Amino acid sequence: MNSIIYAAVAVLGALSVTGVIGGALSVGGLSAFLSYANQYTKPFNEISGVLAELTGALACAERLFALIEAPEETPDPENAETPAQGDGSMRFEKVAFSYDPERELIKGLSLEVGSGQRIAIVGPTGCGKTTLINLIMRFYDVNEGGIYLGGVETRRMKRGELRSRFGMVLQDTWLKSGTVRENIAMGRKNATDAEVIAAAKRAHAHGFIMRLPQGYDTVLGESGGTLSQGQKQLLCIARVMLSEPPALILDEATSSIDSRTELLVQDAFAELMKGRTSFIVAHRLSTVRDADMILVMKDGKLIEKGTHDELLDKGGFYKELYETQFAHEAAPCGSAFGAVKFGVAE
Ligand SMILES: Nc1ncnc2c1ncn2[C@@H]1O[C@H](COP(=O)(O)OP(=O)(O)OP(=O)(O)O)[C@@H](O)[C@H]1O
Ligand SMILES: [Mg+2]
Repeated sequence: MNSIIYAAVAVLGALSVTGVIGGALSVGGLSAFLSYANQYTKPFNEISGVLAELTGALACAERLFALIEAPEETPDPENAETPAQGDGSMRFEKVAFSYDPERELIKGLSLEVGSGQRIAIVGPTGCGKTTLINLIMRFYDVNEGGIYLGGVETRRMKRGELRSRFGMVLQDTWLKSGTVRENIAMGRKNATDAEVIAAAKRAHAHGFIMRLPQGYDTVLGESGGTLSQGQKQLLCIARVMLSEPPALILDEATSSIDSRTELLVQDAFAELMKGRTSFIVAHRLSTVRDADMILVMKDGKLIEKGTHDELLDKGGFYKELYETQFAHEAAPCGSAFGAVKFGVAE
């Protein structure tokens, strides 16, 4: 608008100076007029600039208040209880949970897990497998019911204490900026170099680490920098191998690793799982088949549970999943299509 006004004044003024249209504007008069026109529009420019900034500030204020008003994490209880060391039994009592109060997710989930048992959780994408893991670790609190570890409700325990009892490898890896060594040793602060390397070897991460420019002293950027997804996952696995936690949670822990390495890592995990309560969200037949109990989830509900053979005999949803997802894995040639994710809804 400003430029159009400026141009219109200039053209009309010029015509007036040359005498095409009446009036007798001098060249000096026109140039003074143009400069006034410019000064007149300047404040309007500034006002519109301020308006744009104000809108930005309002949007920021909205986010700021949302953050201030976010519900506070409930503090750890004063007289927190601690379950006996080595007791890895878990009990879920009528657990109900939803991220969004409008949309119910997990409801009426009851379950008993013995110490040292290996539990596999299967089900289609979005059925709440990761959510169940989040509840065990108290990344979210249950809405109703309770989760008990060694007979103590997890909400009666200190969060730090609860989390120190589980070693986790999750779908999305988390690495901090620092050296490879620091990232692996995170699980056990006082680990020696030899222990770190031994853990990396068990996780089959040693090979690629040695190919990095500075080996174990290579500095990784924020969230792992340029490492591939599978390499990040191997580092997280090495971390768990080092800390040897009392209980294990593996949520698609090997989803980004090639099938050959995966088989090797799986063996190391099997070794680690001995005598430890483990929750495994897996896509591999072998891991699921060997579990003490398989939980089949669908739309947040536990629809079937039992061992592999029991569930196959029952002929329910698990059998259907098994036949569509696993049949080729069980082929006699032993082909290892590890990348076929269990429970991907087509
Ligand atoms: N932080 C969150 N806030 C709101 N809704 C969420 C959140 N995380 C997950 N959900 C929803 O909860 C449901 C269950 O998600 P969940 O991550 O537990 O699925 P999943 O069984 O682990 O699936 P996948 O096999 O893909 O890992 C999904 O419908 C998802 O959209
Ligand atoms: Mg998940």
